[in-house]
Amino acid sequence: MVSLRFSFIAALGTFAIATPTDRSALLVHEHRAQPARGFVSTGPAPSDAELTLRIALNPNNIAGLESELYAVSDPNSSRYGQHLTPEDVAEYVKPTSDALSAVTSWLQTNKISATAISPAGDVLQFKIPVSQANSLFNTEFSVFTHSTTDETTIRTLQYSLPVELSAAVAYIHPTTTFSRPFAAPKSQPLPSNSKRDIDPTCADITTISCLQVEYGIPTTSATQTNNVLGVSAYDNEFANFNDLKQFLAEYRPDLPATTKFDVELLDGGSNTQITGFAGVEASLDIDYTVGVASGVPVKFISVGPLNNDTVSGFLDQINALISDPSRPTVLTTSYGADEEDMTLPVAQGLCNAYAQLGALGTSILFASGDGGVAGNDFECTTFVPTAPSTCPWVTSIGSSQTILENFTKNNFSEIGAAFSSGGFSNYFEAPAYQKGDVDAYISSLGDTYSGLFNTTGRGFPDVSAEGVNFVVVSGNRTGLVSGTSASSPVFASVIALLNDELIAAGKSPLGFLNPFLYSPAGRAALNDVTDGKNPGCGTSGFNATVGWDPVTGLGSPNYPKLRTAVGLS
Ligand SMILES: *[C@@H]1O[C@H](CO)[C@@H](O)[C@H](O)[C@H]1NC(C)=O
Ligand SMILES: *[C@@H]1O[C@H](CO)[C@@H](O)[C@H](O)[C@H]1NC(C)=O
Ligand SMILES: *[C@@H]1O[C@H](CO)[C@@H](O)[C@H](O)[C@H]1NC(C)=O
Ligand SMILES: *[C@@H]1O[C@H](CO)[C@@H](O)[C@H](O)[C@H]1NC(C)=O
Ligand SMILES: *[C@@H]1O[C@H](CO)[C@@H](O)[C@H](O)[C@H]1NC(C)=O
Ligand SMILES: *[C@@H]1O[C@H](CO)[C@@H](O)[C@H](O)[C@H]1NC(C)=O
Ligand SMILES: *[C@@H]1O[C@H](CO)[C@@H](O)[C@H](O)[C@H]1NC(C)=O
Repeated sequence: MVSLRFSFIAALGTFAIATPTDRSALLVHEHRAQPARGFVSTGPAPSDAELTLRIALNPNNIAGLESELYAVSDPNSSRYGQHLTPEDVAEYVKPTSDALSAVTSWLQTNKISATAISPAGDVLQFKIPVSQANSLFNTEFSVFTHSTTDETTIRTLQYSLPVELSAAVAYIHPTTTFSRPFAAPKSQPLPSNSKRDIDPTCADITTISCLQVEYGIPTTSATQTNNVLGVSAYDNEFANFNDLKQFLAEYRPDLPATTKFDVELLDGGSNTQITGFAGVEASLDIDYTVGVASGVPVKFISVGPLNNDTVSGFLDQINALISDPSRPTVLTTSYGADEEDMTLPVAQGLCNAYAQLGALGTSILFASGDGGVAGNDFECTTFVPTAPSTCPWVTSIGSSQTILENFTKNNFSEIGAAFSSGGFSNYFEAPAYQKGDVDAYISSLGDTYSGLFNTTGRGFPDVSAEGVNFVVVSGNRTGLVSGTSASSPVFASVIALLNDELIAAGKSPLGFLNPFLYSPAGRAALNDVTDGKNPGCGTSGFNATVGWDPVTGLGSPNYPKLRTAVGLS
């Protein structure tokens, strides 16, 4: 595993030199020993290439925001459900005036004009040529080429900042963080185009009705028009309206034939609707939100390639939603990366953005990844946690698989799906809401896998849902898809339907879910999955067990029990 020593080195200040443009000392701010797996340096970046850089300033009081997040998300709190406003969260996240003036004066000295790109003004963006960036940050930007995709990206392994900016700045991006999303669901890429009959035993394929029976999900239509379920999309994928129509006609014939979804485009996202070009991931996510969350308004939020970078795309999406008064109450994302691809400050910056959106009342769900304990690294020698699942302020969704021998309304069982990623963060410690669960699981392991994972890290996933053999219509073809990419939309739909009922009853939507899910009432409303394992890195992976485990988390949803647990009668 890449050694993660950048902040450590910055703290020691091992490096101090003077530059011609600025006489102040420079300190190494971030460093990584080697590029992210798969990338090799193929020479210096052209000196006249223009870089679009983001400078993120440290928040003035992130601990304050975290305590507010708990206050509105813990069912035991007297302020449960009293979500914050964007102005409230900005007060915690905005930089101190000292930090802002240090950065502003440095920008002026270097004749750089920057624009704030976050609501709290904590992230500024500017463009400079590689030559200027090399000199300002005492670095050498290089071209890195990915060995399998041939994709090129300009990055560096280390950069420095003037000493007076050290405390003010969280990170400059893109520098040492590499962007390598796991986009593709683990799928048979729609091999056939045969009509899939509904299998009443749910033995060969998972359809909407299987999920409704299995989890007790209501088929009646939601009533609230302002309870939006957001579906994140990247990689220029779009979902085709005709594909959805075909899917619903086959698998939800009881829904109105006019049932559609809204589209929002950010960073140059596209929605061409060209037949045959729909993305499988996008189709899966739309089929199992529009199809499961009956009548809930679904918004497909496509973040395009303008910033050439997934991490920036993640941040841009959250910043856009923070400012959007009709922001979704639930957001599901089936994209992510290995935690180690991001540096700690970048992972923290993203996580802080999720804390803000959570405090505003949005439940943020991420697929945990499809590589078992290996994440995306199939040559791993230690387990590879995935991001943003390891951020404590998101809900990470793993996959289960139904044991199908005798599928009846009251008799089914699930095991953890072998691909379901889970494990422990190297960046974020286990938060209070799960500390007891994580400690108990780790102590049950004894010495098994000692040294392969971090015993103090945040455990993921938090919960799970069915994720195997989902029938999908994409590009006018029908096929089967498996992955945590399937599970996250299902769990998100369950939460969206609960929110619909809560709002109809004059209550708040659920917002950040984890303090509720890990509470005695929350966990009792989940189906504990106690069998299965997630192999990887030459091991058989972790076991699903009684209680929380790093394969299926606390388990899968039981809608009738969740209804009661959230206070609906
Ligand atoms: C919340 O309150 C319940 C009962 O009132 C208690 O059992 C539970 O431990 C409390 N949880 C936390 C996180 O304080
Ligand atoms: C993205 O890449 C294109 C082509 O290399 C380049 O012209 C553009 O400036 C880049 N955008 C950003 C925000 O870096
Ligand atoms: C549930 O199904 C299993 C087979 O999968 C069967 O052995 C068991 O008897 C069934 N239980 C009930 C209560 O139907
Ligand atoms: C399946 O479950 C039903 C109802 O519980 C039971 O009558 C039947 O025998 C079961 N079949 C098998 C093969 O277990
Ligand atoms: C293990 O996780 C903790 C956070 O819980 C972190 O501070 C520490 O650096 C991690 N250790 C390694 C070796 O990554
Ligand atoms: C979709 O496929 C069917 C055959 O499976 C074909 O009849 C129909 O014309 C196709 N629709 C489009 C829009 O290509
Ligand atoms: C998983 O369970 C099997 C069977 O009980 C056991 O042999 C193995 O040691 C367990 N592995 C871990 C990592 O707990």
